Amino acid sequence: MKFFIDTANLAQIKEAQDLGVLDGVTTNPSLMAKEGIVGKDNVLAHYKAICDIVDGDVSAEVISTDVDGMLKEAEELCKIDPKIVIKVPIIANGIKAIKKLTSKGIRTNCTLIFSSGQALLAAKAGATYVSPFLGRLDDVSTDGLNLIEEIRIIFDNYGYQTEILAASVRGPMHIINCAKIGADVVTAPLNAITALLNHPLTDKGLAQFLEDSKKFNV
Ligand code: E4P
Repeated sequence: MKFFIDTANLAQIKEAQDLGVLDGVTTNPSLMAKEGIVGKDNVLAHYKAICDIVDGDVSAEVISTDVDGMLKEAEELCKIDPKIVIKVPIIANGIKAIKKLTSKGIRTNCTLIFSSGQALLAAKAGATYVSPFLGRLDDVSTDGLNLIEEIRIIFDNYGYQTEILAASVRGPMHIINCAKIGADVVTAPLNAITALLNHPLTDKGLAQFLEDSKKFNV
C-alpha cells in the first residue's frame, strides 16, 4: 500500500519524507489556505516546493468548475513538475475533463468521492486515482470503510486500473482497515501515520532492553 501525506505543510512533508515511507502528497484548497498560501503565483510556487521535497505524486486541485477552465489550470499545474497529478472534483464537467486529460496522458485524481457510483464513473473516464472521503462519511454516521470495500469489489470485477486513494483519514485504525480492505493508497495527516509506530509494549520493552544493556555495555 502506498502512503501519501495529506497536507500542504512543508515541514510535515519533509518529516514524512525523511521517515522513508512516503510515496506522495495530496493537497486541496483548504489545506493550502491553512498554510496561508494566497495568490496564484504563491500557490504554484508552493506546489513546486512540495515537489522538490517528495519522491512521488503530488495532487494539485483545480478550482474551476467548467471544463475549459479545468483544462487550462491543469496545463499550468503540469508545467510545475512531472510529479503533479491533477485533482478534479466528481461533477459532470470533472468527468469530461478527466476524460480529456487522460487522452493527453495527464494523470488525474478524482476527488470528493462519497459513493461507489461516483467512483465507477471516474474509473470509466480513466482517472488515475479516485479519492473516497471516508472520515467525512464517518462524520455523518455512514460507514466510510464500507465505501472503500464497495469500490474495491467493483474495480476488481472489471479490472479497472484506477487506484483507490483512501482520503479524509482520521487516525491509525483507518489506515490499518484500508490496508485490510486493499486500498491502493492511503493519504493521511502526519500524526495518523506516525501513530502507527506506537505501542506501549514497545516502549516498555525498549526501556527494559536499554536498562539491561547497562549490565554488559561497560
Ligand atoms: C485528500 O485528498 C482530501 O482532500 C482530504 O483527505 C480531505 O480530508 P478532510 O476530510 O480531513 O478535510
